[in-house]
Amino acid sequence: MINPKLPKIWYGGDYNPDQWPKETWQEDMRLFKLAHIDVATLPVFSWSLLQPEEERYEFGWLDEILDLMAKNGIYACLATSTAAHPAWMARRYPDVLRVDFYGRKRRFGVRHNSCPNSPTYRHYARLLASKLAERYKDHPTLVAWHVSNEYGGECYCDNCARAFRVWLQKRYGSLEEVNERWNTRFWNHTFYDWEEIVPPNILSEHTSEIDRTRTAFPSISLDYQRFMSDSLLECYKLEYEAIKEHTPDIMVTTNFMRAYKPLNYFAWAPYLDVVSWDSYPSNRSDMSNVAFWHDLMRGLKEGQPFMLMEQTPSQVNWQEYNALKRPGVMRLWSYQAVAHGADTVMFFQLRQSRGACEKFHGAVISHAGHENTRVFRECAQLGKELVELGDAIIDSRIESRVAILFDWESWWALEFSSGPTIDLKYLPQVEKYYRACWSQNIPVDIISPAMPMEKYDIVIAPAAYLLQPGYARRVEEFVARGGTFLLTFFSGIVDENDRVVLGGYPGELRKVMGVWVEETDPLFPDMRNAIVVPDSFPELSGRHEVGLICDIMHAETAEVVGTYESDFYSGRPALTRNRFGEGWAWYVASDPEQSFVNRLIGYLCAEKGIRPLLETPKGVEVTQRRKNGCTFTFILNHNAEPEEIDLGGGTYHDLLTGRTLSGKVTIAGRDLLILRRKD
Ligand code: GLA
Ligand code: ZN
Repeated sequence: MINPKLPKIWYGGDYNPDQWPKETWQEDMRLFKLAHIDVATLPVFSWSLLQPEEERYEFGWLDEILDLMAKNGIYACLATSTAAHPAWMARRYPDVLRVDFYGRKRRFGVRHNSCPNSPTYRHYARLLASKLAERYKDHPTLVAWHVSNEYGGECYCDNCARAFRVWLQKRYGSLEEVNERWNTRFWNHTFYDWEEIVPPNILSEHTSEIDRTRTAFPSISLDYQRFMSDSLLECYKLEYEAIKEHTPDIMVTTNFMRAYKPLNYFAWAPYLDVVSWDSYPSNRSDMSNVAFWHDLMRGLKEGQPFMLMEQTPSQVNWQEYNALKRPGVMRLWSYQAVAHGADTVMFFQLRQSRGACEKFHGAVISHAGHENTRVFRECAQLGKELVELGDAIIDSRIESRVAILFDWESWWALEFSSGPTIDLKYLPQVEKYYRACWSQNIPVDIISPAMPMEKYDIVIAPAAYLLQPGYARRVEEFVARGGTFLLTFFSGIVDENDRVVLGGYPGELRKVMGVWVEETDPLFPDMRNAIVVPDSFPELSGRHEVGLICDIMHAETAEVVGTYESDFYSGRPALTRNRFGEGWAWYVASDPEQSFVNRLIGYLCAEKGIRPLLETPKGVEVTQRRKNGCTFTFILNHNAEPEEIDLGGGTYHDLLTGRTLSGKVTIAGRDLLILRRKD
């Protein structure tokens, strides 16, 4: 449980009382209670009010609002306000300002703007967190800590350059080792002095102003990416430790942004007590991708429930077309988060700003300022439901027998790679295999390469381009014991420094996969090939279109399931499976159409006795959470029209309406059921 003080699904969000006169605070309290809001996240962007001058801190206003919240039964997810430095700090200590990818020294402005290796920023951010923790450690409202906000971006300043060299020394020990790892004899890059190493941006290794993945030295860019992720993590850790000195038992988090490329969230997650994230799909987002983001967030701490820290009650302001969430959608998507493991439903923002760039961003309390709005009514209805659900669902877990490997390092390296094709992107590959599971209501865990595979029956590794040493051996053990491992094209190519593993692809995985990839042929966007599976394999038989990339390979010990239809490699293996010990290792050598991926995953699951949670029409999603001998089945109808679902035998208790249900039921458009069943 995130905090036993509030044993329910938390309901609330970002609150900016410092943008409003005090009379408004009273009105806010009245409206929060009407909407059943019980948590406010604050102060997220108030550093300049908390520390108006270098030597002066001002907590009076925060005391006042927190006391008012306490009186009104509103808890605080207390933020540290360090995601944007004060203007006076930028003026007096320019080291807090970042240098961007183009080598430009920034001036004061925007937010998320501090150099992570600035001594000034680190000193004052830690100090502020420490002062806040000391002051509010016993405040009755305190239920969680929210450090900074959406860490991200990068810096290429001289402080960062110095810190990068230190980071390299720690990681590799000597300059000789760095030269070796980076393969610096290429293009005359041998370094003789640490000072010769500079951050890889457009002034050095990068070659395109627009496509920032274009680099002459992927190994340097890859290490800088790791270093930046680590640098920002260091900033988080400084605040985390300062807070823990005063409140060791209160959970600390920082809010993530789905699969945010610059930060390796798997490396961050061990330092968060609970993962939280901000979910901003558009009306046109693919619901499978949204489900994937939730599952990724749950996966970061191996299944521990996470916090939905932010979502908009209706529109945002920063998309190209900021459509309103249609009636019912906010509620449905809130429950979708819960269905995937969230134990909080929180908004950005509780009261809509008057000025600056977020004034048209949706809020629980709109510019109208009262409760008589569609959005407020929908928020209040959901708030009431969450009160009624009480502690029924919180802390329950999702059980998956299928896992998908997700690896930030592989993602970075694959996209820094020059060749084989600019169309090869990591996320769509992962999303495609996730969608195959999602569309069949098969629960999936997202795991990192370091996480155990043993508890799964099936592990899917799409485009696993970079492999850490030892990973292949773990795959061998997993398959030998009976697991099914599925690998796709262009995998196992490089080591952790983007050096090719010699002796044939997929490198160290060659033995378990039983194939040797000799060449990789990228297709032009208008080109297609096909995998042909003969009738002797009826479950997968037919002609399945592929594109993007074709690995041309030799089956060594693997059985050829499907072959290429055309081109000079027509008839060569395109889909193989290798018996290895008790299990199977499958290799998909190209990028098939979604329908075939669905069929393949369906077949592999059926083979393992993994059945869909329920068979549902398209657009109806099913998940399951479990605790204390109870199963909670979420059935979410993303369609605007009603859908009929067959629950099969047995009776269920619908937590939202109190009805007892069995057999065929109809779910209204954008509505859902949460069905409880005791074992
Ligand atoms: C992010 C930030 C918030 C706010 C919202 C707007 O998630 O964390 O401060 O800017 O976006 O959608
Ligand atoms: Zn910097």
